[in-house]
Amino acid sequence: MTDNSTILEINNLKKSYGHIEVLKDISIDMQQGEFLVLLGPSGCGKSTLLNCIAGLEEIDSGDVKIGSETMNDVPPKERNVAMVFQSYALYPTMTVRENITFGMKIRGDSAAEMAAEIERVAAMLQINPLLDRKPAELSGGQRQRVAMGRALVRKPKLFLFDEPLSNLDAKLRVEMRAEIKDLHETVGASIVYVTHDQIEAMTLADKICVLNVGVIQQIGSPDEVYHQPANIFVAEFMGFPAMNMIDATHISAEFARTVEGVTLVGVRPEDMVVVANWSENCIEVEIVSIENTGPDAFASVKFGDEKLIIRLNARSGHKNGDVLNVDLEQSIKHYFDSDGNRVV
Ligand SMILES: Nc1ncnc2c1ncn2[C@@H]1O[C@H](COP(=O)(O)OP(=O)(O)OP(=O)(O)O)[C@@H](O)[C@H]1O
Ligand SMILES: [Mg+2]
Repeated sequence: MTDNSTILEINNLKKSYGHIEVLKDISIDMQQGEFLVLLGPSGCGKSTLLNCIAGLEEIDSGDVKIGSETMNDVPPKERNVAMVFQSYALYPTMTVRENITFGMKIRGDSAAEMAAEIERVAAMLQINPLLDRKPAELSGGQRQRVAMGRALVRKPKLFLFDEPLSNLDAKLRVEMRAEIKDLHETVGASIVYVTHDQIEAMTLADKICVLNVGVIQQIGSPDEVYHQPANIFVAEFMGFPAMNMIDATHISAEFARTVEGVTLVGVRPEDMVVVANWSENCIEVEIVSIENTGPDAFASVKFGDEKLIIRLNARSGHKNGDVLNVDLEQSIKHYFDSDGNRVV
């Protein structure tokens, strides 16, 4: 879907509130048609960055380009971006139709233009039967669609979504996630999407930018970020339960690579390979508790004084106190140095 022309370029952006620097030297490139997800924990600066792109917040230094135009001094209305907020912010006294065309009306578009846009957007979002209702008469998911409809009528260059699914229930989130993905593919829209949910990021993104305390930790495809995390923060943030971090001095030199400055060896719970018989490639662990999720069972195990999590088949019949052999040769390992960076 991407066509190799840059739609968004952020160079060395910095932003402080008072003495607190909330965005530190942010640089991002995004291609036309790309789905970019800004992912990170609460307070890491995701919304602030989105607001800087929209022009709702001023930046202290660096620049923001949309298309090839520098936007630093361009007011939000003239940036040709549409933002969908977490709260949806629909007008309660207006019908769905009026909510969607409100911006067009303000701009002075004709009734015929508004009718044509309503038809196009309502068909795309399947909200035709809802057009004459008020927001209070809609479900959460329907409100969410109306909020997207309002963004879509503007045919912006860039869509900015700030956690648009966070106040929906789990089932609806999954449905809406698929709808947003569809929308991206059918319209070829360029989308910057903020979330703290790594599953949402993995399923939606072409490219994920992981942020922590205002610093970019890694930018890459979902596969890269998951399978080759750049540092311990990304390794532990992506994936649930989180990647196990084993002290390199606790395992044999062959698997620890301590000579290369490795201090921690990371193994995901699903990548721990349990074998029937002990060999020199194995570490021995003891099950402390088991959490059954249906398809999987996650065993908390003791390895010396470390606690690790191992994914087991739910039907394996293991119980507390069982001793397991984990074959480190067969398990997928990630290596980190004392600064927390990946050692390749
Ligand atoms: N207007 C403001 N004045 C001072 N500090 C602010 C302001 N807005 C945000 N902050 C601070 O900036 C940091 C980043 O906030 P931001 O809202 O961007 O985080 P976020 O990643 O979107 O978090 P969440 O996932 O909780 O929405 C936080 O520490 C926050 O407290
Ligand atoms: Mg936020």
